[in-house]
Amino acid sequence: PVLKELVGLSNLEEKIRRFYGLQKVVVVPGNCEESPLSKRELGKAGAKALLGVMRGGDVVAVTGGTTLAEMAEQLTYPVNGPLKGSWFVPARGGLGESLEIQANTIASNMAKRVGADYRLLHVPDLLSREAYESLVHDPNIQEIVREIRTARIIVHGIGNAVDMARRRKLDEATTDGLRDKGAVAESFGYYFDESGSVVHNMLTLGLRLDDIKAADVVLGIAGGKSKAKAIHAVLRFGQEDILVIDEAAAMEIVRVL
Ligand code: BG6
Repeated sequence: PVLKELVGLSNLEEKIRRFYGLQKVVVVPGNCEESPLSKRELGKAGAKALLGVMRGGDVVAVTGGTTLAEMAEQLTYPVNGPLKGSWFVPARGGLGESLEIQANTIASNMAKRVGADYRLLHVPDLLSREAYESLVHDPNIQEIVREIRTARIIVHGIGNAVDMARRRKLDEATTDGLRDKGAVAESFGYYFDESGSVVHNMLTLGLRLDDIKAADVVLGIAGGKSKAKAIHAVLRFGQEDILVIDEAAAMEIVRVL
């Protein structure tokens, strides 16, 4: 039965890989919405996939979220020694997450675990247009933003649009607006509709869509049946190279392909 399960999972991986034209898909057993153990496996698979593509001198931009936090926990010290000269940075700042799952926290945790360096981006949550304009012109902020925008590797979580709007305490009108525009997915503070078009963008600093397009490796990691639509939308956006998901999400994606 174990072998059969493995064959089943690799079929799922191959189907999804081919359908969306991805470089690599990893499907871990189970449903991480129901089992912390599956979430740990997901994190472990994400960590392995990241170490598989990293090389000296990399800039790796990471998002926040509970899934990325688990992935950071599961990163182990590289067998070939520390990844000196590589940098972890937050993909975007000030998205309104709680401290433990902020991109800054994840970037520093990941860096420490693999012996790399990190730099943080301190941007307050929910920026006003005026605050944004003054931060954009701050030389220290400019310097780190410039570095973030050169990231060769981007690692990001994927969320349901409305869930993420709630978690970030967006006001009622913005959340309704998202629904009206058909937003189903959120990643990096960008909201996507089912066809993968960006329908809303949080006003903050860090990676822009062009930087995501220019990156060598975009690695998405997410799990749970309820995220299938969101994952599909982000894949439609078309910038993903490596996808790490759980069986529950994979089954649901394949069911509606
Ligand atoms: C956010 C990321 O912090 O976490 C998003 O910026 C992502 O890219 C979201 O959509 C996912 O969160 P979780 O907790 O479901 O992994």
